[in-house]
Formats: sequence, C-alpha cells, structure tokens
Amino acid sequence: MQHIILIGFMGTGKSTVGQEVARQLGCSFADLDAAVVAREGRSIPEIFATDGEAYFRERESQALADMLNHSTRHVIATGGGIVLREHNRELMRDGGYIVHLAASKETILARVKRDRNRPLLQGDMEERVSKLIQQREGLYDFAHTTIATDNETVVQLAARICKLADGSCK
Ligand code: S3P
Repeated sequence: MQHIILIGFMGTGKSTVGQEVARQLGCSFADLDAAVVAREGRSIPEIFATDGEAYFRERESQALADMLNHSTRHVIATGGGIVLREHNRELMRDGGYIVHLAASKETILARVKRDRNRPLLQGDMEERVSKLIQQREGLYDFAHTTIATDNETVVQLAARICKLADGSCK
C-alpha cells in the first residue's frame, strides 16, 4: 500500500498542494507538522523554544513512522526537515511514492517572509534560507519525482501529481 508523500524545503507548498492532491484523488490527507503539534498540544515555535530542535526531530520521526502505518492510502505532507535523518528517508522510500516539491530561493523567500511559525527562519531570513538550502543540498533527491512549484497553480500541481502517482482512493 503506497502513500503519496510530499517532501521539500519550507515554503514549497507541501501542505497546500497535498490537501489538493488528496481532494482530487479522494484520499485522506495527513500533515506531519500538524500531527506533532496535536500530540504535543503546543506550537512548533513553543516546542523548539522549550525543548530544542533535537526533541522536535524525535517527535517528528515518531509521528512519521506512525503515519506510514496507516492501512489506507494517505497523502502525507511532511515538514522540510524530515529528510535530515537517513532512517526517515528509508521509511518514506519503503512506504510511498515520493514527490519532491521544489522552488527557487526567491520563491521560497516570498512565500515564507511574513511567517513567524518557523523557528529555523528567525533572524536574517535570507541568510537562514540560503544556509539551510546549502546544508540540505541533495537530501531531497531520493524522491521518485521532483516538481518545480514556482510557476504553476496549486490545482495544476496537484493534477500533475495525481497523474504521476497513479491510483485514486475513490
Ligand atoms: C522545518 C520545517 C517546518 C517545520 C519546522 C522545521 C525544517 O515545516 O517542520 O519548522 O526543518 O525545514 P514546513 O516545511 O512545513 O514549513
């Protein structure tokens, strides 16, 4: 049973596009960040501020493993850092069809600039984004397919993914 798993840097549209893919295919949608927040009963900035990034990564990895165990096909939107752990990359590769949503640095900055919900982007945002893009170079390449999100609408992107992923839930 293959899930459809969206990976990609912050601001590439994983949650928005994922919801639309799920709608078009009639599949359930699951959002990893939202799952962690629900389990913890506090926001991502609060988790980072109180317990640090390492704690968040543990909770995120646990939530991913649980999510991949769903017995019905889900469209899963991950957080941008889920690819940092090799074990997560392996689990995802085993559990689904993986779509890497990509965007240029300029597009990412335009999309995230007013967002206060991303602790890793606090401070000089352009510098933070550049640095993280560099640090994560190659980590999204294990996806089955990569789609640039800069110039297409959410509905168009979702339709492309539905075609590629092949298999509705209806
Ligand atoms: C993170 C991305 C965020 C969230 C957390 C860390 C990252 O999710 O999981 O702030 O390390 O790239 P989005 O990619 O949905 O913004």
